[in-house]
Amino acid sequence: MLFDSHAHLDANQFKNDLNEVIKRAQDEGVELIMNPGADYESSMNAVKLAETYDFIYAAVGVHPHDASSLDDMMLTLLKKMAKHPKVKAIGEIGLDYHYDYSPRETQRYWFRKQLQLAKALNLPVIIHDREANQDVFNILKEENAFETGVLLHCYSGSAELARQYVNLGAYISIAGPVTYKNARKTVEVVEMIPLEKLLIETDSPYLSPHPMRGKRNESSYVKYVAEKIAEIKSLSYEEVCRVTFENAKKYFKI
Ligand code: NI
Repeated sequence: MLFDSHAHLDANQFKNDLNEVIKRAQDEGVELIMNPGADYESSMNAVKLAETYDFIYAAVGVHPHDASSLDDMMLTLLKKMAKHPKVKAIGEIGLDYHYDYSPRETQRYWFRKQLQLAKALNLPVIIHDREANQDVFNILKEENAFETGVLLHCYSGSAELARQYVNLGAYISIAGPVTYKNARKTVEVVEMIPLEKLLIETDSPYLSPHPMRGKRNESSYVKYVAEKIAEIKSLSYEEVCRVTFENAKKYFKI
């Protein structure tokens, strides 16, 4: 019983063997997968996948890297797409000050617009935050995003910030980097945050967990994240799988 709460199955890296990737995931007990969009096209492809496979759900949204590609017409089209019954969130959206592929002002503008879209549709959001901790936190508060649901995907911030988020009702999603040798900060997050507030994910095809680090990531590897959380929290693997599965179902209203 595993829920990979963040996988980009629509990515090019899977175009030759998606069926085998999905088969391996199911063999490892992955029962549900959330596939978020990263731009307009991948949002469309996420919806198509969700229509093809009953255990795949979609989120639609434009990643901060591609914020410059957004305009009002595209936002209207995203809104239409988000009304599909298998679209359960707006994402992934947020701010990325590490790469700055889109100007920061543009990122913030479209981050707010997409948060407002989520509120208008009563959908939760999937947040990408890279080196923009304070701005992401402030904008989420200013836009009252916590009312409809906030999930911090592939969380890499401090334990203290995670606690502030959880106090506001947010969920924290843990990805492969928690298994890396230098993961002290994320290990602290897992120690401090109750299991009832944690989700697990691969962010595949990126960020493969140890011992697959460096290879293409895939949904079946989400088990390594669950194993690591079980080890950190001194819980059974089965309990981590079951509780994070229920958390994700509840968050996405599945
Ligand atoms: Ni992602």
